[in-house]
Amino acid sequence: MNLPDYVEARRRTKSKVDIEMYSNDIKGIGIGKTYHIKTYGCQMNEHDSENIKAILEELGFTYCEDYESSDLVLLNTCSIRENAHNKAFGMLGRLKHLKESSNPNLIVGLCGCMAQEEGVVKEIISKYKWVNFVFGTHNLHRLPYLLNENFKSNKSEIEVFSYEGNIIEGMPVKRDSKYKAFVNIIYGCDKFCTYCIVPFTRGKQRSRLKEDIISEVEQLVRDGYQEVTLLGQNVNAYGKDLELGYGMEELLEEVSKTNIPRIRFVTSHPWDFTDGMIDVIAKHKNIMPAIHLPVQSGSSSVLKLMGRRYSKEDYLTLFSKIKEKIPNVSISTDIIVGFPSETEEDFKETVELCHFCKFDNAFTFIYSPRENTAAAKLKDDTPLRVKEQRLNQLNDVVNKYFLENNKKLIGEYVPVLVEGISDKKNELYGYTDTNKLINFKGDESLIGKIVRVKVTDAKTWSLDGELDER
Ligand code: 5AD
Ligand code: SF4
Repeated sequence: MNLPDYVEARRRTKSKVDIEMYSNDIKGIGIGKTYHIKTYGCQMNEHDSENIKAILEELGFTYCEDYESSDLVLLNTCSIRENAHNKAFGMLGRLKHLKESSNPNLIVGLCGCMAQEEGVVKEIISKYKWVNFVFGTHNLHRLPYLLNENFKSNKSEIEVFSYEGNIIEGMPVKRDSKYKAFVNIIYGCDKFCTYCIVPFTRGKQRSRLKEDIISEVEQLVRDGYQEVTLLGQNVNAYGKDLELGYGMEELLEEVSKTNIPRIRFVTSHPWDFTDGMIDVIAKHKNIMPAIHLPVQSGSSSVLKLMGRRYSKEDYLTLFSKIKEKIPNVSISTDIIVGFPSETEEDFKETVELCHFCKFDNAFTFIYSPRENTAAAKLKDDTPLRVKEQRLNQLNDVVNKYFLENNKKLIGEYVPVLVEGISDKKNELYGYTDTNKLINFKGDESLIGKIVRVKVTDAKTWSLDGELDER
């Protein structure tokens, strides 16, 4: 048994830890069995699930749409807010019932960020003994070994590493899309924003080598992919741990040269967003003019308590620079309301900032205290009811601007990567260069292609359009 350990998880060392790849003799243990995986949380988790699916299929498992009739159910969990936690525990409750009623041989595994939490693993050991195995974010590659042990002994296996290993190149991957791909560029985060659990669950900042990233993107180009999203908790810090003399600016430049038609990247911390990066984005047509730039709060004093390392003014300066230098750029953001000690005045500053920035999209949250984070120790006397009012008020403001920005596009021609058929019959859907969802009529053969669409109508969260057949 290897349990999560926050002291270890907080440590930032330069030492490398050797990893053990799984041996070939375990291949085949899944033959004749089915699996289902539920993924919660961010794109990093979605991409981890793509690796996990490939590992399971290499072991012989086949995917089953319906979790109730699967032999193995894996929950790839998220720790970011309490509701993500509750969802996973709710699902565990349903799985327990399933195991007790109709599927006694069901194998249940829990992985992802919650597996890195000391409190969660303690709870699993004491109250969820029937969970067959738990593994963390640093040891996906150990899944075959854990499953094999579980098959042999039928005992619960818990293996969570709180130190992170070397980056494992060449992990198998079963991508969910044939046109868009996630490519990890940096793992972990060293920012330690005071509300955030990620630096504990995902470990220290570790960048992949530029050569490995480029060869992955080149392969994707050969496979016909149209879009890559470069992934990291804080992509702008890319390269800082490597000391090889290159960072995000140079990486974007290199990825651009692969001629992949579309490049996106998430998530950017304003602190590490350099002028050089803005220039590179502005210069290359295949780097999409859509930037996710979480502000978190419009009050400098709250930002300070959050440990964000920038003031409201710093954010606005960066924001204006990006708007000025990148034509037609869309900027989206994340905002937390109800952070401990946030006053009505602080909140008003957040609302004002939103009136100024007119974001194209915004993900808004009520602050959720997370185990072991610095903010969890702060006094928080704002009633939940007030926090909910603030969230509603903020949502009304930001939604108004989503619609207003979308309406400005009516009559324009926009490039769209067609992704599939929407729920509305006979309509294709896809995303514009500025990351807006658009629905329009067209032939299925266009799926996976980039086409020109004229915007005919605008809603808060999507556009309608007509295919430009010329
Ligand atoms: N409570 C509420 N929201 C949070 N986020 C991160 N941690 C918390 C928390 N403890 C939000 C931030 C971040 C996004 C991914 O989730 O806005 O940018
Ligand atoms: Fe969390 Fe801050 Fe790191 Fe983002 S930059 S993952 S909010 S600690």
